[in-house]
Amino acid sequence: MELLEKILAIVGEKGLITGEDVAKRPGDWMGSIPCGAQAVVRPSSTAELSEVMKLCHAARQAVVPAGGLTGLVHGANATKEELQISFERMRGIVEVDPIGRTMTVEAGVPLQAVHEAAAEHGLIYGVDLGARGSCTIGGNISTNAGGNTVIRYGMTRENVLGLEAVLADGTVISSMNTLLKNNAAYDLKQMFIGSEGTLGLVTRAVLRLQPAPVSEVTAILAIDSFDNLTQLFAQVGKRLGGLLRSFEVMWGSYYEMIGVDSGRHNVPLPSGHDFYVIVEGAGNDSERDEALFTEVLCDIIESGTAADAVVATSNAQRDAIWAIREDVEGQIIALMPGVTFDVSLPISRMEEYVEGLNKSLRPMCGEEAKMIVYGHLGDNNIHLLVAPRPWSPEARHRAEEMVYKPLQALGGSVSAEHCIGLDKREWLPLSRNPEEIALMHTLKAALDPHGLLNPGKVLLDPES
Ligand code: LAC
Ligand code: ZN
Repeated sequence: MELLEKILAIVGEKGLITGEDVAKRPGDWMGSIPCGAQAVVRPSSTAELSEVMKLCHAARQAVVPAGGLTGLVHGANATKEELQISFERMRGIVEVDPIGRTMTVEAGVPLQAVHEAAAEHGLIYGVDLGARGSCTIGGNISTNAGGNTVIRYGMTRENVLGLEAVLADGTVISSMNTLLKNNAAYDLKQMFIGSEGTLGLVTRAVLRLQPAPVSEVTAILAIDSFDNLTQLFAQVGKRLGGLLRSFEVMWGSYYEMIGVDSGRHNVPLPSGHDFYVIVEGAGNDSERDEALFTEVLCDIIESGTAADAVVATSNAQRDAIWAIREDVEGQIIALMPGVTFDVSLPISRMEEYVEGLNKSLRPMCGEEAKMIVYGHLGDNNIHLLVAPRPWSPEARHRAEEMVYKPLQALGGSVSAEHCIGLDKREWLPLSRNPEEIALMHTLKAALDPHGLLNPGKVLLDPES
């Protein structure tokens, strides 16, 4: 029997898509490429996927796991030689334990569904990001997703207590720990978090939940120098303490291009300032939190740290502020074709880094090139969207060189949160030393000796 027939016998008709129907499915989040796989396998349980992987292992058939396809590094691209493993039939919220503050879910559940299920119990899941409606927990885990609340709750790694994964040979590693403390030898789940499906296929997870805050205060501030920006970060960190949930920065040119010039937003502050910062606090006592937040903001304005500020007085105003920051569509309209970056570096070096890029932009990317800078500055992470003109694969490479090369000397990383996928393999040695990369190859060879799991992603063939 052919492999696909054997797989069909395991997953049933709903579980297998073949032929022309495969290319009708999107291959990335914009739908700009079709699904390139030979077939799409949609298991409905861990047991089914385990049986599928036993067959794939015996046949040396490679597979590529896919979540919500919202990744930005082509980590879920599949070729005609590969099968896509889709988790869209594994969307169950298995259990919420409101006392232990955990939620057990299947990998295909969208992040937003996790938020909604947690809210029913007066709890939250600490990871939040713009793609919440489409991205899945399995994808979030495989990419150790970050997002807008990392300074408060950490990245996905800090919010996953346990998980289950299917190995390349079909073995199920059920490591569904629910405990905050568990030092019983190696913490195996960490291998599967952030490894982009190259070491195992995550099927279920135990998520850590937190008490839901009852107060939420959001402000946008205009800042006129980088010194003032770091001052602001220090002051809100010190005075808001545990209340601080987000510290997102848009460089002035971002605010002008995406917020003002696009005509897509009702901007709360005029353009013309160096930086615009979204500061958000969330706590457990509305009156006290609002009073503290207002007092801190007044001091910040009075001391001259901020030139201007607006506090959201309604949910609609809060959403309007975040809409400028999360306006991916506006970014695409204004700058695509271009390259999205997610670098991280010490906050104290960001000003010189971005100034350096501003100087290199025209010489390296063309007189008409454009660039915007924004991101989760509070956790060292800035995003850049660089649009070289004219656009070509070579121009893309020059933009990458311009952005990545200076990071090494600054102790930065070529990926703060989007991972490596296909796109950044060449640049990995700027952020990881040869011994680290050799150990990564050792790990990959031990767990996936036949190279069946998301082949070609993350690490370049050492022979190449
Ligand atoms: C963001 C994505 C690009 O922060 O990571 O908007
Ligand atoms: Zn981001």
